[in-house]
Amino acid sequence: MKLNIALLAGDGIGPEVIDQAVKVSDAVAKKFSHEINWTPALTGAAAIDAVGEPYPDETHEVCATADAVLFGAIGHPRFDNDPSAKVRPEQGLLKMRQKLGLFANVRPTFTFPSLIDKSPLKRERIEGTDLIILRELTGGVYFGERGRKDDGDTAFDTMTYQRFEIQRLAKKGFEMALKRGKKLCCVDKANVLEASRLWRETVQAMEKDYPEVEVTYEFVDAVAMRLIQWPKGYDVIITANLFGDILTDEASVISGSMGLMPSSSLGSDVSLYEPIHGSYPQAAGKDIANPLATVLSAAMMFEDFNLKDEAEAIRSVVNKSLAEGIVTEDLSEGGKAYKTSEVGDWLAANI
Ligand code: IPM
Ligand code: MG
Repeated sequence: MKLNIALLAGDGIGPEVIDQAVKVSDAVAKKFSHEINWTPALTGAAAIDAVGEPYPDETHEVCATADAVLFGAIGHPRFDNDPSAKVRPEQGLLKMRQKLGLFANVRPTFTFPSLIDKSPLKRERIEGTDLIILRELTGGVYFGERGRKDDGDTAFDTMTYQRFEIQRLAKKGFEMALKRGKKLCCVDKANVLEASRLWRETVQAMEKDYPEVEVTYEFVDAVAMRLIQWPKGYDVIITANLFGDILTDEASVISGSMGLMPSSSLGSDVSLYEPIHGSYPQAAGKDIANPLATVLSAAMMFEDFNLKDEAEAIRSVVNKSLAEGIVTEDLSEGGKAYKTSEVGDWLAANI
């Protein structure tokens, strides 16, 4: 297969972890006789510095015409501490999601046998966890009307959802559930929010088309608690943009390190693959960041191209590296801490 992949390294540790995913993907391509053509493009603070814009049109062009996008991370502390900044790196990410129509963000949470005891949660609670949070990514309060009132002291952000936005996400959720544990949980705040009541109404109306899927409805505050108490109770969760943002950070703790969880963002044309973690600016340039979430994101990409053996080759070499302690400092616990690039080299060599 010939693949054209847009490569958006972004900010902070983005370039370092992306490099490892490229090494590993190239090793996979070599082994399985594929050809990957990588096209790098600017995004985030790096793009603001270069061209004054976090998601330039040229970058969009590269992404929109690629078969997939592999993305590192976005964000820089000099913007975080400046609420008046006119352009922010995160705007690039949001613009990219919107312009590429990436409405469904797939964020899995699973455990690695060799890391169970690294999780702050008890082994018996988390062992065997295998859930997916399907986060709506191009609507809700992230994209609703926002602003300041004339008094300057009042600000508002609006959570708006249209039925079709809920339907297309829920459809993906039902289809995913059918291929997995056949359980779908719609997470909302329908006891308070009108937008959430539309979510419930819409998902309820779809239930009859998927009689094999057991559907439940839970409030997001309760799920915040249950998710870390009984993660095994969940299979596929569908939820609105902001709720999904919060719950997926929470869920990533279950696996033991934020550096481990991959994600994909699906649109109708192109899809994007990125680690769940952020740009981790404190570690940028130090060659210490854990590259596994990005490497596993590349595995999700292969999987979506229906290249299942290729995806499995990546997942199994990642498991092997964890079992053999070829890990970065976040996981080394007194043992040898390997550099980001060393982990990448090891993975590529063992594909
Ligand atoms: C994420 C991030 C982004 C989000 C930020 C960087 C805008 O937290 O992908 O989860 O809130 O969606
Ligand atoms: Mg987030």
